[in-house]
Amino acid sequence: MSVPDRGDLRVDGSRLHARIAALHEIAPISGPGGEPGNARLALTDADREGRDLVRAWMAELGLHVHVDGIGNVWGVRPGRSGRLDEPAVMTGSHIDTVGTGGRFDGNLGVLAGLEVVETLERHGVVTERPIAVAFFTNEEGARFAPDMMGSLVFVGGLALEEALDTTGIDGARVGAELARIGYAGATPCPGPSPCAFVELHVEQGPVLEAEGCTIGSVTGVQGISWQELTIVGQSNHAGTTPMRLRHDSGYVAAELAVFARRLALELGGSQVATVGTIELHPNLVNVVAASARVTIDLRNTDDGVLRTAEERLAEHARDLAAAEGVTITARRLARFEPVAFDPAMIALVERTAERLGHPVMRLPSGAGHDAQMLARVCPTAMIFTPSVGGISHNPAELTAPADLEAGADVLLQVLLELAGTDGGGGGERR
Ligand code: HGY
Ligand code: MN
Ligand code: MN
Repeated sequence: MSVPDRGDLRVDGSRLHARIAALHEIAPISGPGGEPGNARLALTDADREGRDLVRAWMAELGLHVHVDGIGNVWGVRPGRSGRLDEPAVMTGSHIDTVGTGGRFDGNLGVLAGLEVVETLERHGVVTERPIAVAFFTNEEGARFAPDMMGSLVFVGGLALEEALDTTGIDGARVGAELARIGYAGATPCPGPSPCAFVELHVEQGPVLEAEGCTIGSVTGVQGISWQELTIVGQSNHAGTTPMRLRHDSGYVAAELAVFARRLALELGGSQVATVGTIELHPNLVNVVAASARVTIDLRNTDDGVLRTAEERLAEHARDLAAAEGVTITARRLARFEPVAFDPAMIALVERTAERLGHPVMRLPSGAGHDAQMLARVCPTAMIFTPSVGGISHNPAELTAPADLEAGADVLLQVLLELAGTDGGGGGERR
């Protein structure tokens, strides 16, 4: 079998789609129209099952698998020297999902990384540097804040002990759940810094589709601010309590949601605001709510405007608390400044997509990603593929099979360029 010139190597789409389908079978859910999605919240039994499946694939491909103290898992394919202690070119993403997750968010990046490895194996390609494929723990942050928790620990941005001590929305503790599912690994945190990191991910927004592009070369990730507001008023009878005597936590929660929306529209630009959680207590039809828990997600590509949004919200909450006779306590759940990716890496993704004949554009990421953490320790890039209708965090999340393959091919070629081979062919057989 002659080894094709590395520039001609392409992934096997049927293998990639088969792995995506197989992983989808773990904790599948259906959307309102029967759309196929997943619910694999971090560190649940469903997450464990997904982890076990991907880890088995890593072993089948001959990768040297590591599990670290926060449950990050990565498999290493040695380079020409055969040594495992050399900095690797790393790719990967996450396989945990939100509660109404799609089949591609995170999963594509991990499974395309495995497909790249299988393609290299099958063609006997030897790279100068090792290639690693990772999935990071709790990228979504939906159960345990902050999001990107595993990759943040991997790069030394969050102490392992602090992460392990995190309590989730269900009262569970990260450390206990990791041990329970068998992923409290022995490999030390922070992990070994890669020499470069590339993450393939669906865009989860409407831009590539609207612009008719197959590939996005991501310029960076916008700033993220998550906070939880606890409102304490006074429960009272819905029928007997005059409006002027109420300290209504339910009203205050709803008013904050309206304020956040109006603030985002007023600030304009890339400012977004989301109230994803409103919990009332006792949550009964005839009781003025005693207390409420509200989460507010603010994001902006400009950190200065994001800080303005945070300050305006805090000021409004103070005024509202005084006017309504309630207390409002804010707890920060996550705060990440905007991240800019390495210009040379952005250019590499762009020219690789052009070389493969795919329409490509540069764009920022509205969503958070593990790549924004890896960018703290090595040159980092992201490759986006279009999301149909821009839908994500929804079982209806969809990317055309040809676009999934195009993204994986660009990933293959970018990783080959970064990991180096002997030039034309793939080097001597392994
Ligand atoms: O919240 C985010 O942007 C990501 O899905 N964790
Ligand atoms: Mn994701
Ligand atoms: Mn997500």
